[in-house]
Amino acid sequence: MTSKYQAGLFDLDGVIVDTAKYHYLAWRNLAHKLGFEFTEQDNQRLKGVSRMRSLEILLEVGNLALDEAQKTALAKQKNEEYVSYIKQLDRSELLPGAEACLQQLREKGIKIALGSASKNAPLILKNLEIEHLFDAVIDGNKVAKAKPDPEVFLLGAQELGVPAMDCVVFEDAEAGLQAARTAGMLAVGIGQAQDLPSADIVFPGLYAVQLDDLFQF
Ligand code: BG6
Ligand code: MG
Repeated sequence: MTSKYQAGLFDLDGVIVDTAKYHYLAWRNLAHKLGFEFTEQDNQRLKGVSRMRSLEILLEVGNLALDEAQKTALAKQKNEEYVSYIKQLDRSELLPGAEACLQQLREKGIKIALGSASKNAPLILKNLEIEHLFDAVIDGNKVAKAKPDPEVFLLGAQELGVPAMDCVVFEDAEAGLQAARTAGMLAVGIGQAQDLPSADIVFPGLYAVQLDDLFQF
């Protein structure tokens, strides 16, 4: 691998912070209200997936067909519960090595963007006190097409003013890695290799990434 990358694009949930447990709590409670079980295994299917698509998967699990107005109301209900959890989020929930990784890249002059599907990203960044570490924030409020569409990362590269081919994406979801590849970027998987077939390289967490192997320092 050549050390030519000039920018890092980071997914949020599952890469920088462990919010999956709160998404799961809120989705599971919604499933219970609707009268069915939603297991942790079912929840794996929601990783990296947009809020509405997550609801559709949940309704598939419960074998329920609802109209658009009902779906919108349920997604709102789930989000209100999720937001009540992340309002309490603090720096202790930063994943190991995440902040150090962002800081080290900044010190070396590498541009950094967030590339997240979440519409709640601004609140999460604020509560983690890491907003100042990003040169650009692309989140669910800015993109029309969900991962695996590359829009979120292409917009990130554009806002940073760095060609796509010089960007590295850090992602814990297979859909996000596919998006990175389609965008022509290096796709770094965070997690277990067997879950991330589209990754160019996989690390168990940001703490394990050898930054000077990847970036043009
Ligand atoms: C992604 C999460 O980052 O954001 C998904 O991995 C979530 O689980 C998606 O559904 C949308 O998040 P939000 O906060 O806008 O509902
Ligand atoms: Mg993620």
